[in-house]
Amino acid sequence: MSLPSLSRIPAPPDAILGLAEAFKADPRTGKINLSSGVFVDATGQTPVLSTVIEAERRLADAAGSKLYRPIDGEVAYRELVRALALGQDHEAITSGRALATQTPGGTGGLRVGADLLRQTGAGGTLWMSEPTWPNHPQLFLAAGFKIRTYPYTDATGRRIDEAALLAALDGASPGDVVLLHGACHNPTGVDPSPDLWKQIGDVIEERRLLPLVDLAYQGFGDGLDEDAAGLRELVRPGAELLVSTSFSKTFSLYAERVGAMIVIAGTAADAAAAQSHVKVAIRVNYSNPPAHGADVVRTILADPELRARWEVELAGMRDRIKDNRRALVAALEARSIPGDWDAIATQRGMFALLGLTTQQVARLKDEHGVYVVGRGRINVAGFTAANLDLFADALAEVLATS
Ligand SMILES: Cc1ncc(COP(=O)(O)O)c(C=O)c1O
Repeated sequence: MSLPSLSRIPAPPDAILGLAEAFKADPRTGKINLSSGVFVDATGQTPVLSTVIEAERRLADAAGSKLYRPIDGEVAYRELVRALALGQDHEAITSGRALATQTPGGTGGLRVGADLLRQTGAGGTLWMSEPTWPNHPQLFLAAGFKIRTYPYTDATGRRIDEAALLAALDGASPGDVVLLHGACHNPTGVDPSPDLWKQIGDVIEERRLLPLVDLAYQGFGDGLDEDAAGLRELVRPGAELLVSTSFSKTFSLYAERVGAMIVIAGTAADAAAAQSHVKVAIRVNYSNPPAHGADVVRTILADPELRARWEVELAGMRDRIKDNRRALVAALEARSIPGDWDAIATQRGMFALLGLTTQQVARLKDEHGVYVVGRGRINVAGFTAANLDLFADALAEVLATS
């Protein structure tokens, strides 16, 4: 016997992680990596948060056990992350119709949610924004969904085309799943206004669609509650939806793979039944979750003093991103680079989309050692005093000569 013949044909590298590998192998000094969605500080490092170090010290002192964890995670963790996403006293929590599951990162949360839906007979169509995080289409295709897209920004790439977005959702069929970025849209950095969230909620209700909210950056935009406001707009009385959250970025726990998937059903009984299917989906996939990252997040969220310190660390990351946005716009305007850059200063989260051609993106990499994704998605957190001017010079040169 031999391996299947297709296994002999190499798969294309991952759109984002593949670039990170190419960056690592690039021998040039002065190269700049703006491709990966990781936060870096002013020195270009991604440090472990001080609250994470403190939580890890406490966990080591407590010397717990390495026994298997429950399939859907420890109750304390599940309750804390549910409150973080929905708000402490939300009706969906007090009524018991929202139940959280620990998952390996936000990617794991999305996949567990997708498996739950496919396993229990969801209509096979899922709508996602165009553009979106490149892992979205391949993840939901792998889970067996047919993908449809709804338009997101207008031609400038700086504002949501509200009419086009709403019209597309209005054309969806009852039972279709609608994937929405909870905050800090990846890759555009452009989020719906409160009024647009309300209109999206209305279309979802009228068309009887099922929202799946991907909340991977809660706290990176405007604040913990502010960034969950869109999601909470959708959690109307009796409304059903799924939420995937990630703590990779907001606790800087990338490698620990920690996140959650929240099922919000119409009633507590329906939520409990759905949760039993969630456990089946997990059991046949990775059986039960890794412990460490969730223990760290639980330790921080459960302790008022540690939690307050974490919120300060989170605000520090958020403020640095906002400062970088303003510095980027100033650097582009100082070089009189033609374009509508102003809006980048007020967008949310780590990403901005420059709207470049494939050729311009290739030239940035080949001629300047500047790594950006797709149509020029940049990680704004990646700028430091050492690389911002180099980047702006490179962009100015490429745009002036193409
Ligand atoms: C929009 C979006 N969703 C989900 C994720 C998944 O994050 P992770 O699986 O690393 O927790 C990411 C990470 O980049 C993301 O950008």
